[in-house]
Parts: sequence; C-alpha cells; structure tokens
Amino acid sequence: MTISNNNNIEHASLPQHVAIIMDGNGRWAQQQGKVRVAGHKAGVESVRACVTKARKMGVKALTLFAFSSENWMRPKDEVSVLMDLFMFVLTREVKRLHNNNIRFQLIGDKRRFSEKLQKKIVDAEQLTKNNDAMVLSIAANYGGRWDIAKATQKIAQHALAGDIDVNDIDEHLLNQYINLADLPELDMLIRTGGDYRISNFLLWQAAYAEFYFTETLWPDFKEQAFETALLSYSDRERRFGKTGDQVKAEKTEKD
Ligand code: IPE
Ligand code: IPE
Ligand code: MG
Repeated sequence: MTISNNNNIEHASLPQHVAIIMDGNGRWAQQQGKVRVAGHKAGVESVRACVTKARKMGVKALTLFAFSSENWMRPKDEVSVLMDLFMFVLTREVKRLHNNNIRFQLIGDKRRFSEKLQKKIVDAEQLTKNNDAMVLSIAANYGGRWDIAKATQKIAQHALAGDIDVNDIDEHLLNQYINLADLPELDMLIRTGGDYRISNFLLWQAAYAEFYFTETLWPDFKEQAFETALLSYSDRERRFGKTGDQVKAEKTEKD
C-alpha cells in the first residue's frame, strides 16, 4: 500500500511527535453489552487507523500506550487476552509496517513478557530498524517512573565506573538515558476515554507537550477523530516559558 502525503493541515503546524493514551476499551464494550475484551479487540482497528493517518500526515513519531506497568493488576483473563492480542497483531501487522517504511520499537520492561512474545518484539524491531518514514513506539509494561528510575540507574553505573563525573549530571544528560530521547520532542499527548490524567505514562517526556483530552472511547477514535485532534494542535501557541508577544515576534522574524 502506498501512502501519499495529501492533507489539509500545514506541515509546519503539525506535531512531529504524538503520543496517545488509548483508553476506554472496556467502557466501549460494556456500552455494547459485550465483555471488556471485545473492546480491546475493537481497539486494534483504531490503532491501525491512527498509524496509517499519522504516516499519511507526515507525523515523524507516534507513541502508543498499550499496557501500563500497573495493568498487570487486572483480572488474569483480561491480561492474558491482551498478551495474546498483542502477539496476534504484531504477527499480522509487522510486514505492513515494514512496507510503509515505519520503524517499530517497544518501550517498557520486556522481561515480563513470555519468551515467545519477547522474540516477536525483537524480530519486529530488527526487521524495521532502518526504516525512516515514521517511528512507531508501543509502550507496553511501561511506566514513566520506571523510565526515569532506569535512567538514573544507568547513570549511577557509569558514574561508579568513572565514565561520568557526578557534577556533569544535569537534565540534558538525564534526558539522554530516557526512552524516546532519539526522537523529536513530544509535541502532543492525546488521551481518549474521558479521563483527565497521565496514568504514569511519559512523565519526563511530556514536560512541554500539548495535552488533548477527548470523551471519545478508543475503539471509536478513527481517522477523523485523529485529524480533529491534530487540527486543534495547529491552533495552540507554544510559549515554552516566554510571553505571547515574544513568540509572535520570533514567528514574524522566521516568516
Ligand atoms: C485501555 O482501555 C486499554 C488498556 C488499558 C489495556 P481500558 O481497558 O482501560 O478501558 P476502560 O478505561 O476500562 O473503559
Ligand atoms: C492507561 O489506562 C493505560 C493504557 C491506556 C494502556 P488505564 O485505564 O489503565 O488508566 P487508569 O488506571 O484508569 O488511570
Ligand atoms: Mg482505562
């Protein structure tokens, strides 16, 4: 399948890196009188739709929260269906990602997954590692606090080995050890499902992200809903601590 770059959003005002907390599958299913896992299965179509749309629009990085480090606390059966679904979707979709020049990676602690799933993940990462049209990061068994703790652990190891001077530890250095550091800064964080919280997702990376919350439940979040979210981003004024006048002046200078 070829994806062309036809869109009606100006390129400059498009977020380069978008993350999504894909929430509301269970409620979607309950509303339809179905079991919760039917919502997870339906949600796969929204993943497909958003990946395709992001690629088409020219988004450089898409990061999706699929399973949090806290989601292990859910009923065993639900966790098990989610793992099977992950395996199934990865098997089915990896070729399509590759054909569309998309690099796939998993962020999160892989060790808690089955050997089989870990292998699937590594194989998909290997196959797609040189692709450069877009990076699709799936956050699974991921937690923002885990990410930061892991980074500090690595830095401490380097400091102990004498490779890092403790006085050189600052936010720029720490940032290099945090997941997604090699990608453009996170511009936008979307959460579907009507809750207004971050649920231990990209705590560090979201420092200056634009937040977008929608009541739409994840299985209903398709191309159109995603485009509406991206359009809302183009209306935001990102000030990064400066005044609105300063930002406008800088923009005029650039144009
Ligand atoms: C998000 O949907 C998917 C995962 C957390 C795996 P939920 O399963 O949290 O759906 P709700 O929030 O219960 O509706
Ligand atoms: C966040 O959703 C995790 C994912 C979407 C994968 P949850 O539904 O688990 O979040 P909380 O627990 O309601 O905050
Ligand atoms: Mg939820």
